[in-house]
Amino acid sequence: MRTLRPRALVAALAALVAAPLIAAPADIVATRVAGFREVGAAFKNINDELKSSTPQVYVIQISARQIRDYARQQQGWFPAGSGPKPGVKTAAKPEIWSQAATFKKAQDGFTAQANAFATVAATGDAAKIRVAAKTLGQSCATCHRSFRVEERR
Ligand code: HEC
Repeated sequence: MRTLRPRALVAALAALVAAPLIAAPADIVATRVAGFREVGAAFKNINDELKSSTPQVYVIQISARQIRDYARQQQGWFPAGSGPKPGVKTAAKPEIWSQAATFKKAQDGFTAQANAFATVAATGDAAKIRVAAKTLGQSCATCHRSFRVEERR
């Protein structure tokens, strides 16, 4: 088996760490916003099905897996320096970075609820899915209340 020499390993790790810093803040915000739009679309699909008298469980399950995957990704969507500044349009509040521990709690709460929701969705039990969808929605609202600028559109 070939092993990576320490120096090569250090270089590879440095490249990994440097990558998000090299990306322009506008690109980071664009990725973040696109990701949250997909989260929003997936959550809408779930709620649309739950409003129906004959919910398509497979639609809910696919959407649940999407949200679960994005909930994992969003842990990397807020690198330092990607907050509001001249020339960058973002609804992310500066408190995300100034109250980092509280924000991390909101992120972890979302990840936990997204995992829990995917598990409940997999059972196919519509009544349980309805309850879990509310709890998941609360984890979105908890974060938005403190860390996202009110919609002004
Ligand atoms: C840990 C915090 C956090 C959680 C949890 C969270 N969001 Fe957000 N969300 C944000 C922030 C911050 C923004 C603004 C991003 C920006 O403008 O850079 C945002 C933006 C959005 C947007 C707007 C994207 C646009 O068009 O500008 C939607 C839609 C959205 N979130 C949906 C959701 C849904 C649905 C959930 C839960 C299933 C959720 N979010 C969970 C923090 C969060």
